[in-house]
Amino acid sequence: MSVVDEVKQRIDIVEFISRYVPLKKAGRNFKGLCPFHAEKTPSFIVFPDTQTWHCFGACGEGGDIFAFLKKREGMDFSQALEFLAQQAGVTLHRDREEAAREQKERQRLLAAVAAAARYYAEQLAGPAGEAAREYLAKRGVLPEVASEFQLGYAPDSWRGLAMHLLAQGFSKEELLAAGLLVQREDGRIYDRFRNRLMFPICDAGGRVLGFGGRVLGEGEPKYLNSPQTPLFDKGRLLYGIDKAWREIARTGVAVIVEGYIDVLAAHQAGQRNVVASMGTAIGEAQLQLLSRFGRTFILALDADAAGELATSRGLDAAVKALGEQGGPTFAGGLLQFERRLDVDLRVAVLPAGFDPDDLIRQDPARWRELVEEAKPVVRYLMDKALPERAALQPKERARAAREILPVIALVPDAIERAGYIEELARRVAVAPELLQRELAGLAARSRVAAEARPQLEARAGPWLSREEYVLAFLLHYREARQLVDSALAEAGLEALAEADFADDVARSLFAALAAEENPDRLRLRAKLAPELRQELDRIERLWAEEPDLGPEEAMRAGVEAALQLRRIRLQRELGLLRVVLEDAEDVAEARRYWLAIDRCCKSLRALMLVSLARRSIGGQPQPT
Ligand code: UTP
Ligand code: MN
Repeated sequence: MSVVDEVKQRIDIVEFISRYVPLKKAGRNFKGLCPFHAEKTPSFIVFPDTQTWHCFGACGEGGDIFAFLKKREGMDFSQALEFLAQQAGVTLHRDREEAAREQKERQRLLAAVAAAARYYAEQLAGPAGEAAREYLAKRGVLPEVASEFQLGYAPDSWRGLAMHLLAQGFSKEELLAAGLLVQREDGRIYDRFRNRLMFPICDAGGRVLGFGGRVLGEGEPKYLNSPQTPLFDKGRLLYGIDKAWREIARTGVAVIVEGYIDVLAAHQAGQRNVVASMGTAIGEAQLQLLSRFGRTFILALDADAAGELATSRGLDAAVKALGEQGGPTFAGGLLQFERRLDVDLRVAVLPAGFDPDDLIRQDPARWRELVEEAKPVVRYLMDKALPERAALQPKERARAAREILPVIALVPDAIERAGYIEELARRVAVAPELLQRELAGLAARSRVAAEARPQLEARAGPWLSREEYVLAFLLHYREARQLVDSALAEAGLEALAEADFADDVARSLFAALAAEENPDRLRLRAKLAPELRQELDRIERLWAEEPDLGPEEAMRAGVEAALQLRRIRLQRELGLLRVVLEDAEDVAEARRYWLAIDRCCKSLRALMLVSLARRSIGGQPQPT
């Protein structure tokens, strides 16, 4: 965890801001007179659930504890950090040498796993690899696909890899840290992977970070994966992303399956936008990575997972899934991903007993059909609860409606939500107004829970968060800011601003960048406080590791990501407004919130139109 996160975790925002502004409880939140502009009725709200504040009055400012302190005391980022760290008892100044050392170690580990992947591939091609080659043939994997995915074979020996890599000059410690070797109690080392078919797992840029190894035939565990290492974090990686991202960027669509072999089968069949979550439920970090390339994600669920999804409708399940790390088998979790990442999630359900690999081989046409017919989560659940032609009794219809409503309540987009309500009303044959009224009550409860989940902290992650990506984009292309601002202006919206960044580090970096007439990276870097410089260096390093999209595509992706930042900010404000609306004390206050909600919705709509127009001008082919 970074010091910034640690500080945030240790200081409670309500308690902290109370020292400056008298706050009074209003529903779940706290309200006071905005310290940043003169006002008679309080419109400054502190949200304990998100540890943020927002002024819904004249100044319209908001942010976290850093943003508050900077604004209130006129501090810059590092002064605020120093002040808060001292309050929280967190030690600062992880020195630059340490960062450089870490960076160097990372390079060594990357070199070690890359060398291991080459070794395994050679073994697969050589005499030791005969059984593995036969196994691949039996599974129907063509040699060209095996070589494209750099598959390999870990020989049935205790120290084959160890000897090979030690001879190349890697140290025992490096190989242990890379997860390639295991150390016994008595200190002796041996190869982690033995007699296994090896699947190198890469980042989007094609750098190998770790491995999955399958037994040839039966055996336990079926797959052995690299352990958590400085390079390898299963929850943040997607198998096949390096081969799939181009197609995902081209079509805007990604298909997410579970297994290694499923990815091979799909790519072999010519479907190249397929990646695997590697057995675990798809997580937010993985979806965030994908959202760099596309916006429509199809989850291929096996019959079991689909069953779980179907039973997760209903208020309790929906709310519960929000409190936990919502996985793909919980409707609430999926809808939450949609709202937070601003993406479109669909489900395709596999026939019982099939995984994608089986289906692609046995009935490729059926597989294509399934993927094409993937349904948005809410539609899927509605169809499941209300079979189209079944003549349901009033009681059954009421039950189905009560199960579906909480899920609809979680749909972030008001227009989309209204559409579902209308459809549900038609299918259960009641007036939409009746459902609307039921929904109003539910919405408050589930949305508060949704807003309550802390934002994903991706700053310390092995790749750029969306905010960091936009920063890097702005830094690397002179015309970037101009392009972003003119796209925003097209929608009648103000230029990209600090407030578009939720994370205060990103916000501070943007402020520094925006203050420069002609941002020059080196000059900017020299001006930054050490903590921010460190963050900038990290962003630069990760940017250099990004796949090379080519100038045109990079420009499109960068502007799109910046527009997404604005969209997410508006959604965030809309969410907060809905929460405060619930607790409005009088008509005048409620009216103010309604007006603000209206403004947000109009901006969102304008932004969506500009985005759509940009995409069709760009000649993006539709998914097939
Ligand atoms: P499956 O058990 O469905 O395997 O696990 P599979 O992909 O169909 O593999 P084959 O067809 O039997 O060869 C799905 C995925 O879950 C992860 C792997 O990524 C696997 O591809 N997994 C599974 C593990 O990591 N460890 C295991 O022991 C099993
Ligand atoms: Mn399988």
